[in-house]
Amino acid sequence: MGPQEIQHVQQSFAGIFARKADLAERFYVHLFTRLPEARGMFRGNFVKQKTMLTAMITSCVRNLDDPRTLEDIGVQLAQEHAHLDLGPREAEAAKRALIAALRDVLGAELDPETEFAWASAINRVAGTLTRH
Ligand code: HEM
Repeated sequence: MGPQEIQHVQQSFAGIFARKADLAERFYVHLFTRLPEARGMFRGNFVKQKTMLTAMITSCVRNLDDPRTLEDIGVQLAQEHAHLDLGPREAEAAKRALIAALRDVLGAELDPETEFAWASAINRVAGTLTRH
């Protein structure tokens, strides 16, 4: 991921930061459409869950240009999901759900270049969700 791509992701995220609650809402709508069985995995307070998701996305976006911190965040994400035994199918669903949620919130602002940059950012992090 080059500096230009990182900038695309950070700039588009800055534009939706105030709407990050919408992003989380749309993320779970798309995740549960693609993976209905995931709904039953969530035991806690879902309002809090959405806040934790956006906090995690925020710290990934902020640290895209800091590989060591991003690695630490990846380890944390892996630990938080380890008990779920997620595989590549779930990681793929998460990637697609996040892109679809970005499309819902950004509309036409999600131009192909920005979408491509987000896809590479997500690829760097999504692998940590799986144990395989
Ligand atoms: C973009 C990808 C994802 C991100 C950034 C993400 C982020 C998070 C975060 C920050 C937490 C909170 C951990 C804590 O309690 O401190 C969490 C918990 C959780 N995540 Fe994810 N997650 C992602 C994908 C997924 C996927 C694909 C699934 C299921 C198929 C999933 C299922 C869960 C469950 C079940 C919990 C625990 C909730 C509970 O205990 O009620 N996550 N996730």
